[in-house]
Amino acid sequence: MEKILVLDFGGQYDQLIARRVREQNVYAEVVPYDRITPEEIRKTGYGGIIFTGGPNSVYDPASPHCSEQVLELGIPVFGICYGHQLAAYLKKGTVTGAEDFSEYGKTQLYVAEHPLFFGVPEKSVCWMSHTDYVSEVPGGFHVTAYTDKCPCAAMCDDTHRIYGVQFHPEVTHTQYGTQILRNFLFGICGLKGDWDVGNWAEQTIGCLAEELKGQSVLLALSGGVDSSVAALLLHRAVGDGLTCVFVDHGLLRKNEADFVEETFGKTFGLNFIRVDAKERFLSALRGVTDPEAKRRAIGETFIRVFEEEARKIGHVHALAQGTIYPDVIESGKGDSAVIKSHHNVGGLPDVISFDRIVEPLRDLFKDEVRRTGALLGLPHELVWRQPFPGPGLGVRITGEITEEKIRMLQDADAIWREEVGKLDEEKRPDQYFAVLTDTRSVGVMGDARTYGYTVALRAVSTDDFMTAEWTRLPYEVLERASGRITNEVKGISRVVYDISSKPPATVEWE
Ligand code: XMP
Repeated sequence: MEKILVLDFGGQYDQLIARRVREQNVYAEVVPYDRITPEEIRKTGYGGIIFTGGPNSVYDPASPHCSEQVLELGIPVFGICYGHQLAAYLKKGTVTGAEDFSEYGKTQLYVAEHPLFFGVPEKSVCWMSHTDYVSEVPGGFHVTAYTDKCPCAAMCDDTHRIYGVQFHPEVTHTQYGTQILRNFLFGICGLKGDWDVGNWAEQTIGCLAEELKGQSVLLALSGGVDSSVAALLLHRAVGDGLTCVFVDHGLLRKNEADFVEETFGKTFGLNFIRVDAKERFLSALRGVTDPEAKRRAIGETFIRVFEEEARKIGHVHALAQGTIYPDVIESGKGDSAVIKSHHNVGGLPDVISFDRIVEPLRDLFKDEVRRTGALLGLPHELVWRQPFPGPGLGVRITGEITEEKIRMLQDADAIWREEVGKLDEEKRPDQYFAVLTDTRSVGVMGDARTYGYTVALRAVSTDDFMTAEWTRLPYEVLERASGRITNEVKGISRVVYDISSKPPATVEWE
C-alpha cells in the first residue's frame, strides 16, 4: 500500500497535514521524529516523507532533530516551515532568526517554474507563521519561491528530491496549498492515490475476520459514532461472534436509547444487549451535586454495570474499543492525559476476562470514521451525531439529578434541537443543546403564579472544540424555542441563552 510518512516535529498542524494527504487518497502516518529510525523508514517502504512544522529554532539545543540519513534514503522529502529549516540545517545551509523579521498570516508568494509549483500562478497568497528563515540554501539547492520579506520561501534539490517551503500548504489560507501537496505526492513521489475508506473498510473487515476467526468479541456500545462504526465493522467481520453491551444510564437524549436499540438490535441484527440501568444510576447520583463527583459516580456505575454483564457472558477473546487515530497519535507523544482509550474503559481490563484488545478504528481520523459509518449504512443521525459527553445529560443538569429533571431537560433539549435543526445545514452551530439549571424563578401562567426551573440554551461554533464562540443565532429561532419550551415542558418557566465563549467558559456547564 502506498504510504506517506509525516515526521512529527511538534507543529500545531501535524494531524492536519496527514488529513490533507489522505484527502488526496494517499495513506499518511504521523510518527514522532524520534520514534522511527532511517532503517525502519526504508523498510516500511514509504513513498515520501513530510517534515512537519514545529515551535523550535533549529539551533536551539533542545530542538527536535532527525538523523541526516533520513534525507539520504532516496525517498522524496518535503519540509514544511520548521521542517524546511531543518532540512536546510541538516544539509549545511544557514537558518537565521530575527524577531523583527517574523511573518504571520496571509502573505503574497512569488514562485518560480518548478514541478512543486505546477499549476500555481507566479503570484498567490500563502499562510506564513515564522520568525526563523533560511538565509542561505545548502549546496545543491536553489530557491524556488520568495515573499516580500522572506528571500527563501521555498527551496529544492531536484537531484536528491529534497524540497522545503517556509509557508503552510496544509492550511486553507494558502490559496494553492492543495495543488502544491498534490504536486509533491503525484508529480514528485509518483504516487497513484488509490487509498480510500471504502477499500480500507473492506480490507480491515477481511483482516479482522481472519484474526478473530471463531473468537468472541465484546464491545461497549454507547451510540456515539466511534463505537457504532466499530460495532458495524466487527459485525461484518465476526457476525454473531460480536456481542454489544449498551448500558442505558437513562441520561441520553430524548428517545435516543430506543433509537440505538432499534438500529443495532433490529435493523442491523447485532447481538445486542441493552441493560436498563436507570435506577442504578439515579440511586448512585442521589444527593450528589458536585460536578466532578457526578462524573465519578456515573463512570464508576458504568463500569460496575458493564462488568456484571460481561461476567454473564463469561470469557471473551477480545475486548473491542473505539480508539481513533488522533488518540493513537496523542498517546505516541506520551501525553497520557489525553489518551481516550484510558477514559473509555477505565479500569475494565482488570476485572473482565479477555485475551486481547482490538481497536478497529485506530488508523482513522474522525471524518474518515464518519465516512466509513455512512458506507456501512449507519443512519445519518448517528453518523453526524453531535459530540455528546460520556456522562450524558448528567453534566447538563446542575445541582442534584432527579428523574423529573431528566425528563424536563430531555423535552426542552428535543425542542431546542428541533428548532435549530430547521436552519440550513451551513448555518447550524457545531454543537447545540439545552442545560437545566438549578435556578428556579417566579413566573405567571394564566392567572396563577409558577415557580419553575430555568433552562439555558447553548449553541457554539468551533473548529476543534478547544476554543468555541457562542453562535449568533437569529432572534426568531430563540423566540420560537423559548415559547415552545415554556409552553410545552411542564416545570420550566424561564429560558436564557448562554452567550459565553470558550475560554473563559467551557462548552458543557459541568
Ligand atoms: P468542554 O466542556 O470541555 O467540551 O468545553 C468540549 C467538547 O467535549 C465534549 N465533552 C465530552 N466528551 N466525555 C466526552 O466524550 C466527556 O466527559 C466530555 N465533556 C465534554 C463537549 O460536549 C464538547 O463537545
